Amino acid sequence: MRDGFTWGVATSAYQIEGATRADGRGETIWDRFTNTPGRVIDGATGDVACDHYNRWEEDVALMSDLGVAGYRFSIGWARVLPDGRGTVNQPGLDFYDRLIDGLLEAGITPYPTLYHWDLPQALEDEGGWRSRDTVGAFVEFADVVTRRLGDRVSTWITHNEPWVAAFVGHLEGVHAPGLTDWGAALTAAHHLLLSHGEAVPAIRGNVPDASVGIALDCRPSFPATDRPEDAAAQRHFDGFRNRWFFDPVFGRGYPADVVDTYVARGRFGPDGPGYVLPGDMDTIAAPIDFVGINYYTSLPISAGADETEDTGIEPGAEATPGYTEMGWPITPSALTTFLERVHRDYDPGSILITENGASFSDGPGPDGTIDDRRRIEYLRDHIAAIEAAVDAGVPVDGYFVWSLLDNLEWSLGLTQRFGLVWVDHATGRRLPKASFDWYRKRIER
Ligand code: FCB
Repeated sequence: MRDGFTWGVATSAYQIEGATRADGRGETIWDRFTNTPGRVIDGATGDVACDHYNRWEEDVALMSDLGVAGYRFSIGWARVLPDGRGTVNQPGLDFYDRLIDGLLEAGITPYPTLYHWDLPQALEDEGGWRSRDTVGAFVEFADVVTRRLGDRVSTWITHNEPWVAAFVGHLEGVHAPGLTDWGAALTAAHHLLLSHGEAVPAIRGNVPDASVGIALDCRPSFPATDRPEDAAAQRHFDGFRNRWFFDPVFGRGYPADVVDTYVARGRFGPDGPGYVLPGDMDTIAAPIDFVGINYYTSLPISAGADETEDTGIEPGAEATPGYTEMGWPITPSALTTFLERVHRDYDPGSILITENGASFSDGPGPDGTIDDRRRIEYLRDHIAAIEAAVDAGVPVDGYFVWSLLDNLEWSLGLTQRFGLVWVDHATGRRLPKASFDWYRKRIER
């Protein structure tokens, strides 16, 4: 790997913190969503989650044991601004202040993400990401947080996976706020991107040596067959899933072929993409210092009726040797190819793999240890895929395993376990898995 390469782990606020009513925290869309019967597969909520809010010192000690140099976590907007804007809740900010000091004392560099999907419910009540006003509220949040913490934290990630926030939340209806509307999803996507672009200079204004980026999820794909209609479907899927975010962030605007298809399919609604105002695309293209890439899987795409993620998933297809318990094909080589493509097409100065990991439910065996060798193989093969990209000249500067802890996997509740550390969800007890030891040794090397 390159000099100064950062080995790390990742989590997010709603998935681990719990303590959702502590110290003046406001309600978020995920509190509302998980506490609505029928939204989460097993009825789990984030009310307690991993109780990280109370056990953060133990979690920092675990990371210190693991030997990571970086920790990616997110800052709960409603802890800091319970109503989304306006009055600052000092006890909420104090929590992140303590966490950051604890990390720095342990020699771990903090990599905070400002938005990992937990919009304050008060903003949702005013239209959430469908409303342009939420952009200003996000910039206010970014300003308050970086003013307080920017003296000790230089690396900032604006958003986590805006595709998921926009489309899984507003089109598929599977994430908060649970809408199923193309117009809402595309409008939300634009406002998420715009808020990123407006936050970048705001963060730089508060943090002297700031390094700012965004974490984009990627879903590489390939045509399921050599039929031309599958190639066309794959190109559109790639536009929907990847280029719609990468292109504007890197100054290319929205991809014209995807715009044309959306117009043809009536995706924008009767007024077209009227939410894009003059100057927006320049704002979104604010220069960044790195791009974060979250990678889990890639998909074969065959011509289908719609863009949805399900199009073309072929469980058991020969091209894919195995699956994780999310039902995701394990395809490390697609990561190498995607990284080469990002380097070639967008030329970011630096890339961080801000998430990569696997859901396998292996728990304690008769001797009390956890033999999660499938996770070890997954991590080993994906790290090798990154090394191959680095050898080909791609500037990857860090790798963050998703996740430190087994946690609340959104609408899949507690049914999925991504952690290097097992969490007994009844008691909160933590138990490192074999993959934890493996990763520690990998980092040492
Ligand atoms: C990503 C999310 C993260 C986690 C992993 C499995 O899409 O950013 O919070 O849910 O998937």
